[in-house]
Amino acid sequence: MTQSRPRIVLHPDFRVGPVDRRLFGSFVEHLGRAVYTGIHEPGHETADEHGFRRDVADLTRELGVSVVRYPGGNFVSNYIWEDGVGPVEDRKPFLDLAWRTVEPNVIGTDEFLQWAEREGIEPMMAVNLGTRGVEAAAALVEYCNGEAGTRWADLRIANGRAEPYKVKLWCLGNEMDGPWQIGHKDAHEYGKLARNAGHAMKLVDPSIELVACGSSSMGMPTFGEWEQTVLSYTYDLVDHISMHAYYEELDGDRASFLGSGTAMDRFIDRVVASADAVGAKRRSDKKITISFDEWNVWYLQSRFPGEQNLPIQKDAPRIIEDVYSGLDAVVVGDLLVTLLNHADRVPVACLAQLVNVIAPIMTEPGGEAWRQPTFHPFATTARLARGEALDVRVSAPVITTSAHGDVPAVTAAATLSDDGVALFLTNRSAEPVEVELAHAGAALALAEGWVMTADHEPAVAGPEHAAKVAAAHWGTYDVAGLVSGEGVTTVRLAPESWTALTGTLTRA
Ligand code: AHR
Repeated sequence: MTQSRPRIVLHPDFRVGPVDRRLFGSFVEHLGRAVYTGIHEPGHETADEHGFRRDVADLTRELGVSVVRYPGGNFVSNYIWEDGVGPVEDRKPFLDLAWRTVEPNVIGTDEFLQWAEREGIEPMMAVNLGTRGVEAAAALVEYCNGEAGTRWADLRIANGRAEPYKVKLWCLGNEMDGPWQIGHKDAHEYGKLARNAGHAMKLVDPSIELVACGSSSMGMPTFGEWEQTVLSYTYDLVDHISMHAYYEELDGDRASFLGSGTAMDRFIDRVVASADAVGAKRRSDKKITISFDEWNVWYLQSRFPGEQNLPIQKDAPRIIEDVYSGLDAVVVGDLLVTLLNHADRVPVACLAQLVNVIAPIMTEPGGEAWRQPTFHPFATTARLARGEALDVRVSAPVITTSAHGDVPAVTAAATLSDDGVALFLTNRSAEPVEVELAHAGAALALAEGWVMTADHEPAVAGPEHAAKVAAAHWGTYDVAGLVSGEGVTTVRLAPESWTALTGTLTRA
């Protein structure tokens, strides 16, 4: 790392744009134990009258999740939604080929949407554009949002739900660029299908927002070309293009892992550039925004055997139950810094996933539910980030990483609302740093703070270890020790840490 003191310039008049609450979304897929023994477990001591776990719902509220995407993920690309509605005793199990799991169809569209409604969560639905197409997609929109008097809306009413659910956000399939995806398509095939399905879906309900599938990751060979081709078919129809990204520490390369937020930053810039290039060619004033509907730390390359290597299983098997460390939590906090800094182009994002599967919340069947270390930075950001994101200028030394080249050693985001200012700061370096917060022309008074520090121990499954990590690495930040001068406040950041500070920032 080259030396020089990091400096962050803040001013209440320099803004990125409003922070959409939908930035703090999550994801529940029919995968492993996300649904069964995750959100739903009849017979559990906390289960409500619908069989949903109250302990998980309470943690979901505490996490501050605004939107939940459902039912997949790869799962959706072979899902027959009609098999998941109506009397539960008449529903047939099916073999989900995405995760090679017998899906009992006990939870389906109505159960999920009613759970989301009870918990005050906005649902984000995905339609199957893998094995199915226009007709099934339009029928599902009608089932969810239609008024009485037509076939699918009447089926919903017959199934006990009179009021339309008014689902606003709809994903046009999932990761259709990925060869692993059931019904994988090339960009032209998918672009045409997405356009035709989206067109029909908007004829059913013109008020919905549509998300076209972007690339499954920046590493896909078709990245860039895929976005441009898909949007060449769908530009006038869709509102958002999706992004998915998972980060992990590979071969002990801690510096690259800690720099993941910069990789996410560049990925967003490139997708925005690809979308804007299509818009420019069309001389369109419309801006396509991003639904970053899957992001997280996932030990995908180092620990996941691959879906095709999973045995066929039933009864909610344990699949991708990654256990997180304090280091993972610092990276999650830093990824949120990146998302906030792109608030103008990223209104929707989903931490993948919510419970048990690469999740901030874990459960034991018949047992307790607990917070993984990654829970803390997410919940804190969702709680504190309000109003508008400020255009924060950071000058910091760089860290040279093997995966991402030079990345800033310190990153920052800030939001400002009537409630005050919230600052989110990451120190990616292994040394403590003193950061100068320069706020010329404005008075800054910091009142409260929280900090997550990275650990060096392997994460261990179970509530005891999660509690131990939280006790040692998560806590309050001592704002009383902050040194303030004329237009400058000096903030000390712990090595490999993520810090949130709140207070007021007012024009002098
Ligand atoms: O979130 C787990 C899986 O990751 C999703 O099903 C898929 O969309 C992505 O590859």
